[in-house]
Amino acid sequence: MVRRITGFSKLSKEEKIDWLVKAFFNQESITKETLKSYWNTDEKLQRLHDDFIENTISNFYLPFGVAPNFIIDGIDYTIPMVIEESSVVAAASLVGKFWSTRGGFITTILGTKKIGQVHFMYEGNTTDIEAYFNGIKSDLIESTEAITANMRKRGGGILDIELRSKTDQLANYYQLHVTFETKDSMGANFINSCLEAIAARFEKDGIQIVMSILSNYVPECLVRAEVSCKVEELIQGTSEIDPLVYAEKFKTAVAIANVEPHRAVTHNKGIMNGIDAVVLATGNDFRAIEACAHAYAVKEGSYKSLTQCEVKDGEFRFWIEIPLALGTVGGLTALHPMAKLSLELLQNPSAEELMKIIAVAGLAQNFAALRALTTTGIQKGHMKMHLMNILNQLGATNEQKEKTVKYFESIPVTHSAVHEFYKTLQ
Ligand code: MEV
Repeated sequence: MVRRITGFSKLSKEEKIDWLVKAFFNQESITKETLKSYWNTDEKLQRLHDDFIENTISNFYLPFGVAPNFIIDGIDYTIPMVIEESSVVAAASLVGKFWSTRGGFITTILGTKKIGQVHFMYEGNTTDIEAYFNGIKSDLIESTEAITANMRKRGGGILDIELRSKTDQLANYYQLHVTFETKDSMGANFINSCLEAIAARFEKDGIQIVMSILSNYVPECLVRAEVSCKVEELIQGTSEIDPLVYAEKFKTAVAIANVEPHRAVTHNKGIMNGIDAVVLATGNDFRAIEACAHAYAVKEGSYKSLTQCEVKDGEFRFWIEIPLALGTVGGLTALHPMAKLSLELLQNPSAEELMKIIAVAGLAQNFAALRALTTTGIQKGHMKMHLMNILNQLGATNEQKEKTVKYFESIPVTHSAVHEFYKTLQ
């Protein structure tokens, strides 16, 4: 059966759904009902979401949770998180509270430089293209005057343009490597507009512009977040674990992620659980953040941990350094009502403040994962949180859920054990 269509984008939303359900689904009315049950009843709000992308036929919800009790550089935060994975928000909340009684999180912005490149081919001599570039460099910057005027008023703009030869890697390949300060905006549109203006001014016979585009790899748009405490303060309550043994084991877990890429990817995935959740909640671009973070993790030639740990002179220190290109103005940040709300919850941060908060969310998540992995194991907490998903899948009533949760308070949660217990309730 051929399932193709021309002019799909021109159809109304109802018509698109009609075609889809006929072409791909067996139960037409159920499919339509499901799609429509996720439409927002507020038509204006729905239209806003429809217009974010093309061919919108419904919405796809993710839970919006909050993790309270984070102290970052002495300021109290409750962090908004958008994520579907059980236990991420719970872990963040526990860790926020844990460090709130141990001095909180301390952060530093190490840079805010963004990057864009005009990639071009030139078959002539390197000295000739250098002479041409040096002669035209101020014109290149001038060609962006109209685009950069507002940004310059806000203290941003183009920082520099460099000519870089890449001919040792690819014959005739050069680039204009442009650095930017984009203040509180992520700056993708601004950077791309500048680059296209620069490329248009730069182009001449003998130069073939291949493309002009920002780089999502921004190793100098970098933030550091850290926690530290006395080793004996690492252990809570009446635990019998020796704090130094635990601290060293924790440090070893980080060391393993530094030398073993298979572990490092999972280790960093856990960090991104925290980071992506806040990036999404604040309407930022999680694909850009992900791509950049992983490129940064491999900057020394092999894929390593984004966090580091030190245990020295009775002190435990744990930190993250991560590049984060974020915006708190422009893009979805003002347009998506929930993104706007998230930013208000975070006390309307600047982009630098948001970098700090998001780095902390990543560090906290990694702390929670390593603490669990090096002590009880991850499944205990994870399956407790997953219990509700299993019960929802089974269609349990509120009363059945309450009884099951109570029953599993002191018993390990497994799929089969939940299924068995659930049967006894029916
Ligand atoms: C699960 O989403 C994340 C962890 O696997 C991270 C880790 O292993 O460090 C728990």
